[in-house]
Amino acid sequence: MRVSLGRVRQLFTMQRVLTQNVARLLALSLRTKLSPSVRAAAVNMSTLLVNRPQYSWLRELGLGEDNDGVYNGCWGGQGQVVTSYCPANNEPIARVRQATMAEYEETVQKAQDAWKVWADVPAPKRGEIVRQIGDALRGKIKALGSLVSLEMGKIYVEGVGEVQEYVDVCDYAVGLSRMIGGPILPSERPGHALIEQWNPVGLVGIITAFNFPVAVYGWNNAIALICGNVCLWKGAPTTPLTSVAVTRIVAEVLERNHLPGAICSMTCGGADIGTAMAKDERVGLLSFTGSTQVGKQVAMMVQERFGRQLLELGGNNAIIVFEDADLNLVVPSAVFASVGTAGQRCTTTRRLMLHESVHDDVVERIAKAYKQIRIGDPWDPNTLYGPLHTKQAVQQYLAAIDQAKQQGGTLVCGGKVMDRPGNYVEPTIITGLPHDAPIVHTETFVPILYVLKFKTEDEAFAWNNEVKQGLSSSIFTKDMGRVFRWLGPKGSDCGIVNVNIPTSGAEIGGAFGGEKHTGGGRESGSDSWKQYMRRSTCTINYSKDLPLAQGIKFE
Ligand code: UN1
Repeated sequence: MRVSLGRVRQLFTMQRVLTQNVARLLALSLRTKLSPSVRAAAVNMSTLLVNRPQYSWLRELGLGEDNDGVYNGCWGGQGQVVTSYCPANNEPIARVRQATMAEYEETVQKAQDAWKVWADVPAPKRGEIVRQIGDALRGKIKALGSLVSLEMGKIYVEGVGEVQEYVDVCDYAVGLSRMIGGPILPSERPGHALIEQWNPVGLVGIITAFNFPVAVYGWNNAIALICGNVCLWKGAPTTPLTSVAVTRIVAEVLERNHLPGAICSMTCGGADIGTAMAKDERVGLLSFTGSTQVGKQVAMMVQERFGRQLLELGGNNAIIVFEDADLNLVVPSAVFASVGTAGQRCTTTRRLMLHESVHDDVVERIAKAYKQIRIGDPWDPNTLYGPLHTKQAVQQYLAAIDQAKQQGGTLVCGGKVMDRPGNYVEPTIITGLPHDAPIVHTETFVPILYVLKFKTEDEAFAWNNEVKQGLSSSIFTKDMGRVFRWLGPKGSDCGIVNVNIPTSGAEIGGAFGGEKHTGGGRESGSDSWKQYMRRSTCTINYSKDLPLAQGIKFE
């Protein structure tokens, strides 16, 4: 029997309408009989975005209505079911079954077994696996970038951009897999060799935040792997679909190469899993990205067991604009770094310090640019500015604006929640606050920019450094002397110190991280790999004598 394409489409439409109607009826009848939670589940079933044709690409990432939130070579998830919501409309996308403590335990054991295999794979061969992971990510970059956009709420190009960071760090790690190593040092004793040997720490626990649900895992994962470690990942509880989709891609590479999947394990979960990881002696390094407040608790738990940690915590990043700055660079830089990702990067510019001679001009130009920001659905290629990730963030935004006003600030633009579905707030500029106002020293993870007016270089550098956090910082100037003072001991105290570029948008080739309450960790490029390894100082006597160091005679 031959059926025309038109007829097939018609049948599909009929079927869809029928299914939707049945689902609606089901929801209606359940509403009258069932408990609120069961009712909510039934309604979700019919309305999950994953079931709508325009989101069929989610299937390409292996996602369905209900997804396993545990991977250790096998997929599982017997714990709490979480629904992931789209921040642009607060509609449910799909559900993930998180890990129970028993599954956590099983996964750690499997990861440890997997390490026995992985540690024996030569580093350049481990690099080859990481190369394949990078390639697999390249193949899915658009779908994965779209998922980040849908689930986290950042705009599509930024979603793709952070998958690109993972791809880039894979490339970087491939080269590194042939370069890591220690020196052979001159021994003071004849017939002795002094060698530095680097070994993997074993199991690297990786806890990541909602705002970079792919890239931050990628930085840790690619580098940890070539160093010979296995990984256990817990992503943010509000971006579980991204964690699952990434792990599916990575798992496929491992399985294709007949390697144990537990080399890259995942246990979705909340504070229970995070606490277990922090307290677990088997976790050789715990890499944590998140707020300073939670980071401090994690740090105490890890320190309590003398464990190793890599912390990427809050920032309170400043751009300082001097009188000689090229304002054509300043304006787009400040706008990108303060409005980009709706102010939810740890590298977001929160403080804009303007020399008094350019203050009014720059404020006017930036406010004009703010008003032209195209606000919309994050996956629309025209959009530059999307929603905040959660409803709580909207409340934090409002509270911060109230406090800023109370502490003497003046609203130049923004300040309101937008009248549209989803967690949209207006990007906001506030002037007139003292440099040390409590709200200026607080990192609120929302798009509020505090503009401060300064007179001298000393004052501006001091204000840059007076906050508790020490992540990123930028100056705009043409004065070479000032540039080197900024980079030097009395300049910026941050981990990222820029000139004539924004505070955000770092490349993967450098070490990423910051000082003070930012936690001190360094991820990604440069020699960050050392944090994922332990160093042994090895002295080998190849002579027939036993000379002691420092010339000691023990006879
Ligand atoms: C973060 O916000 O947690 O430099 C990471 C940047 C990005 C990474 C930010 N490459 O803004």
